[in-house]
Amino acid sequence: MADARYPDDLRALVEAELHALRFVDGTPTDGLEEAMRYSLLAGGKRIRPVLALATARALGRDARDVLPLACAIELIHTYSLIHDDLPAMDDDDLRRGRPTLHRAYREDVAILAGDALYAEAFRHVLTRQSGDPAHVMAALAHLATATGVNGMVGGQWMDVAAEHADLRRLHALKTGRLIGASVECVLLLDGRDPAPWEPFTAELGVLFQIVDDILDVVGTDDALGKPQGSDARHGKRTYVSEFGLEQARTMAEASHRTARAALAAAAPDGAPELEQITDFIFTRTS
Ligand code: IPE
Ligand code: IPE
Ligand code: MG
Ligand code: MG
Ligand code: MG
Repeated sequence: MADARYPDDLRALVEAELHALRFVDGTPTDGLEEAMRYSLLAGGKRIRPVLALATARALGRDARDVLPLACAIELIHTYSLIHDDLPAMDDDDLRRGRPTLHRAYREDVAILAGDALYAEAFRHVLTRQSGDPAHVMAALAHLATATGVNGMVGGQWMDVAAEHADLRRLHALKTGRLIGASVECVLLLDGRDPAPWEPFTAELGVLFQIVDDILDVVGTDDALGKPQGSDARHGKRTYVSEFGLEQARTMAEASHRTARAALAAAAPDGAPELEQITDFIFTRTS
């Protein structure tokens, strides 16, 4: 498949909203905000917030309606990257094409910047997201679940503890839950039941991490903006270590097909931006 297009208009909305964010309210914590913005504005792909905006469009809503929630998800994702790169975790020096936060600043600052991004994400939704309060609370409860013990942090624990749960489960938790929540939280905000979308969101999250594992082997530092070969250096269990590169690629193809079919079932009238992102997640090289 040729390089898939990306909904750049949605990405531009996210970039503008993220650049406008300020966290300090007069207390002398400018240095903390500077560290948070160093990582946040380093230019990631913004897949999760773009997925949220694309979901709003698929529901016939203005993408701008869900920008606070979408940006909160990117704050949480950025915190997860800062902590993932720490010496006690993956001990990586490069992220989004820049020295990792603990290298550019200090390890203690990086820990605190991650902590702050997580709290500020929830504050941003609670203070800025419009909508029926019951729907906002349902979306936030889902976001907390997706990032807690039964979601991202639980998955990161399985990753570092090398608990021998099955690999799909590990990937579903450490990466899949937040990707899925990027779609599901918007459905909840719109007062809908996310259940019919779950075959799509679950598959998309796992597809994302299978491709991430492949890129860790076949990518370059320059293209990835992070160190190639990090997983092998740390003896991580990945789709490539478990099944080999060719088999991992075959599994990514199958997962992509499954995700597209599940999306077609969830959105029978079509969802062009979600289709584009699904293809992009499969074909991406960074
Ligand atoms: C990388 O996520 C971390 C994983 C969950 C595998 P992305 O590949 O979305 O990173 P950015 O946001 O574009 O930097
Ligand atoms: C990280 O997975 C997942 C989270 C940050 C929650 P990886 O360790 O594979 O991510 P990269 O490859 O460093 O981006
Ligand atoms: Mg990791
Ligand atoms: Mg890592
Ligand atoms: Mg990785």
